[in-house]
Amino acid sequence: MTSLLETPVPAAADHLALRRGAARVLLTNWTGTSTVPSRGLYPHQWSWDSAFIAIGLRHLSVRRAQRELESLLGAQWADGRVPHIVFSPAVPLDAYFPSPDFWRSSTDGATAGAPAGTETSGIVQPPVHALAAWLVHEADPETSRRRGFLPRVYDRLVAWHDYLTGPRDLGGGGLAAMVHPWEPGMDNSPCWDGPLGRVEPVTPGSYRRADLDHGQPSERPTDLDYGRYVRLAADYRDSGYADVPGGHAFAVEDPCVNALLIVSEHALARIAAETGADPAPHEARAARLTAALVERLWSPADGMFLCRDLAGGGLIPERGVTGLVPLMVPGLPQGIVDALLGTVTGTGFRLGEVPMAPSYDITGHAFDPSRYWRGPAWFNTNWLLERGLRRCGQVREADALRAAMLDAAGASSFAEYVDPFTAEARGTRSFGWTAALTLDLLAATRPADGATPPHTPIGAHT
Ligand code: SER
Repeated sequence: MTSLLETPVPAAADHLALRRGAARVLLTNWTGTSTVPSRGLYPHQWSWDSAFIAIGLRHLSVRRAQRELESLLGAQWADGRVPHIVFSPAVPLDAYFPSPDFWRSSTDGATAGAPAGTETSGIVQPPVHALAAWLVHEADPETSRRRGFLPRVYDRLVAWHDYLTGPRDLGGGGLAAMVHPWEPGMDNSPCWDGPLGRVEPVTPGSYRRADLDHGQPSERPTDLDYGRYVRLAADYRDSGYADVPGGHAFAVEDPCVNALLIVSEHALARIAAETGADPAPHEARAARLTAALVERLWSPADGMFLCRDLAGGGLIPERGVTGLVPLMVPGLPQGIVDALLGTVTGTGFRLGEVPMAPSYDITGHAFDPSRYWRGPAWFNTNWLLERGLRRCGQVREADALRAAMLDAAGASSFAEYVDPFTAEARGTRSFGWTAALTLDLLAATRPADGATPPHTPIGAHT
């Protein structure tokens, strides 16, 4: 196979067409206050989708990118959690499951501080938001300052991180834990097979999946896994969305979630400095989280980070792309960075040989190139790896990945995910973050005074 390091960067005319196509997706998916990930499969506002979408939207309209983040943060609960879905009252109940009448946030989440006037889910997604807010600010600092954008979002972002490092430190070791496979965002990664196996699924037929109206069953989670997702969500709801150490059938510490928390905490330090607050507590918290990430999730034998199962105990012996995302984290020991770089290009993930990194080890027993998070390549995780590679000085590899992602995004009509070997489209099309991150990668290819990309990855300065 030809090395992708030899892939030519697409011509400027292709870039223009790609930019137009991506902008069209974001316009079609825009609701007036936020962007849906997909008109059919995901017709509401999703948390980490909105953060990635804002990162791309900033190249089209800084005001809309601000709106994207602020509409999400407007649904924040009083305990600091940012819900993974903010439901649109204009969308029929049967368009998505679990629907607002399943989560019942405004009543069953009232004790935890759910807003009274907006229906949301009660779980969370990875904290990309402070990073996104900083990048949106950086796109046009003058407009950002004039509109008072950062001072408006700062306290909410701090409360969000306080929630994750406080009530969500369920393992007591200094990392945020996730209590549902939908929370780390990589829903049915094989990393969750072990912990999920302990969960009794709800009775088949007691609910109706809406996702299969839009996706191929072979590219979506199985009914058995869905039954377990529903059980976990219902139990959490019935507890009043209470976070109790030792009280969750499913509780995991995930490297991608915590890496994003660290990178976002560094972003919060920059936001604090910009708004006249003290950045030092944020840098200190980022350093504590980084030490805990290494202590609790690094696996020297695997050359990557693994997930920790808090309910069953121990590291989970499954190699998901989540374990490579810490490449983004500044200040890791050099030995760990070197090992991670070896694993990204090694036999399991083969970056440089395959177009984009798969979501799970190609040699793993559960690898499936088509099924949701069990092998396909996703644009958001590859965007994170691209930034990580660049941060670590791997410029050729980062450039090659960027070129491969741009090719795959255009050829797949901005697919939700792609086959990791052929980059053929999988999942739904015209997917929000695929289009948005395409715009971001395109903006980074525009030469600024001949050389420097227009934004420096967070952490690159440290
Ligand atoms: N990603 C999940 C779904 O497939 C939930 O956020 O619906």
